[in-house]
Amino acid sequence: MLLIKRLSDMLSELKRPDVRELKEIMTALDCTPELIAPYVSEPDGLPYGRNVLFRSDVVEAIVVHIPARSETYIHDHGCSAGCALVVEGILLNTIYKADERGEAVYAAQFRVKEGQTLPAPKGQIHQMSNPGARRTVSLHLYSPPLSGAKTYTRSEQYVLDYVI
Ligand SMILES: [Fe+2]
Repeated sequence: MLLIKRLSDMLSELKRPDVRELKEIMTALDCTPELIAPYVSEPDGLPYGRNVLFRSDVVEAIVVHIPARSETYIHDHGCSAGCALVVEGILLNTIYKADERGEAVYAAQFRVKEGQTLPAPKGQIHQMSNPGARRTVSLHLYSPPLSGAKTYTRSEQYVLDYVI
């Protein structure tokens, strides 16, 4: 219960946190693999496990478990901004832009290691993958709480090395 108590102590008084403030809270939470272990859930209907630990009108905290060599859908976060911390394992964060047809076009990719945070500014489209042989567990804060998040299909646009 220690992690839930810590989340409730730190999140209950928040007003309208931005990504920077969410990152500060995430750092102050000092979440370890031992603290988060009791809240790691197995996938159930999604390719990854998801467990909501705290939710108010202002902010939501979720534990995400991506099994080895699995990935999330390509998605946005509706109107929410967020920040995540990789607590266990390695996470590959792939950023996309929507093209004129609303399909996802690759923009960038970052490897996020244990103890590192990843920001999710409002409007960001991304996909999280676990390229490793062991599980990846991350803690996510979103403000406002997630609603209206969309998934995307990957655009069939290819970058060619030739034009004729
Ligand atoms: Fe996300």
